[in-house]
Amino acid sequence: MTATSVAQAVYVLAAVLFVLSLAGLSKQESARRGNLLGMVGMVLALAATIVLALGTSARPVLVTALLVALVLLVGAAVGTWRARRVEMTQMPELIAILHSFVGAAAVLVGFNSYLTAHAAGVDDDVAHLVEVSLGVLVGAVTFTGSVVAFLKLSGRTRSAPLQLPGRNLLNLAALVVSLGLVVWFVVAPSIWPLLLLTVVSLALGWHLVASIGGGDMPVVVSMLNSYSGWAAAAAGFMLGNDLLIVTGALVGSSGAILSYIMCKAMNRSFVSVILGGFGAEEGAAPAGGGEGPQGEHREVRADEVAALLRDARSVVITPGYGMAVAKAQYPVAELVELLRDGGAEVRFGVHPVAGRLPGHMNVLLAEARVPYDIVLEMDEINDDLASTDVVLVIGANDTVNPAALDDPGSPIAGMPVLHVWEAGQVVVFKRSMAAGYAGVQNPLFFRENTGMLFGDAKQRVEDIVAALRVG
Ligand code: TAP
Repeated sequence: MTATSVAQAVYVLAAVLFVLSLAGLSKQESARRGNLLGMVGMVLALAATIVLALGTSARPVLVTALLVALVLLVGAAVGTWRARRVEMTQMPELIAILHSFVGAAAVLVGFNSYLTAHAAGVDDDVAHLVEVSLGVLVGAVTFTGSVVAFLKLSGRTRSAPLQLPGRNLLNLAALVVSLGLVVWFVVAPSIWPLLLLTVVSLALGWHLVASIGGGDMPVVVSMLNSYSGWAAAAAGFMLGNDLLIVTGALVGSSGAILSYIMCKAMNRSFVSVILGGFGAEEGAAPAGGGEGPQGEHREVRADEVAALLRDARSVVITPGYGMAVAKAQYPVAELVELLRDGGAEVRFGVHPVAGRLPGHMNVLLAEARVPYDIVLEMDEINDDLASTDVVLVIGANDTVNPAALDDPGSPIAGMPVLHVWEAGQVVVFKRSMAAGYAGVQNPLFFRENTGMLFGDAKQRVEDIVAALRVG
């Protein structure tokens, strides 16, 4: 048995584990197992790659082993450092910067692959040249696109869309020029078209993401996730590594499906996201601003909400981004326990794009050990809201905005939302009357059955818990 055949067998096993991991991640109950399977798959893949490197390298084994160990150490150290420090709300920016590494790796592998073949005098294989050029193109776009996404998400640059005149034409022209350079490289292979292709693709990735508003960044990150998958698959073809091809295709297709699901849940067309954010659309309100108050709102205090809850038989909690910011999930879990002990039926209604990540709320609630069976999706709970006594809207805004249904001119018109206003009483937890992510005012706040409980969501939920314990 050669090192290559052992590695191939392990690669197949790792590929199966990756597929099972994705399947596990699709449900909250099996998400932990899914993660674990993915981790085992990755360890096996790494081990097989190392065995392969040691078995096939032209260098002395010790030198190869040292090089591999060094690379592993640096990668593991940086990965551990970042992952330990990252907050849940910063997850999209971490993912963005990780995608940039995949993009950069694809470009480097492309150059290495071409230069190695060139040095060996075998640089005229058309299939190989196509792999190299497409890998470099997708990799370079992914690299700069992800870096810009990271800079915007982490607030290091302005998140407003860059609106150069004729930006769609610019993108189209850059794509056409890139494809022309691919043809040039394949027909007359040399380093020049490859270098030019890299420069144009880097500029294309930068401009593509720079012209998208910060608001649409999570969808862009998911799209870059897809690109990084295709870049990895291209690298897999260049390196003749089957596992990289399979994994790249899995990431590429799952990223594309996720982007589509996110756009559908936000009622946004994928093309319009790619061509400009909420803030960039004609007639849309500027993100973060909103168009001012639409009437009188009624303010409530925590002890009044506690009294309301004491009498309620059915309570639904709809969490949103503000719950994540405030880290209110722990006192929320405590409140749920208290109310359930008091005999009330308490359930959660989770909107598919509540928060800033797919599954964001589910992760937070699982972290606070809220039982899975009371966490329902929007479609499962919407019909029950009319017969619910009290709805607590904790740090959610756009996902409970009736304008999405009532106002055809609203930037979020048509987005499915939680019909919380149909309940007996609604309490909205937020710090001010500011608009949510889409930058539009929410008429829910001015309804007769809505009370606004201002302040940090964690603090306010703790106040209610304290009031319930006393009374
Ligand atoms: P948002 O519309 O983002 O509103 C969150 C609200 O939380 C804000 O109005 C804010 O009001 C409040 N808040 C912030 N910090 C708070 C704190 N410490 N305590 C209390 N309240 C706080 O929330 P949502 O309903 O979850 O909607 C999510 C939005 O993100 C949607 O528009 C969705 O399309 C978009 N989006 C989601 C995703 C995914 S995949 N989840 C991806 C891309 C975009 P104050 O400032 O007044 O406190």
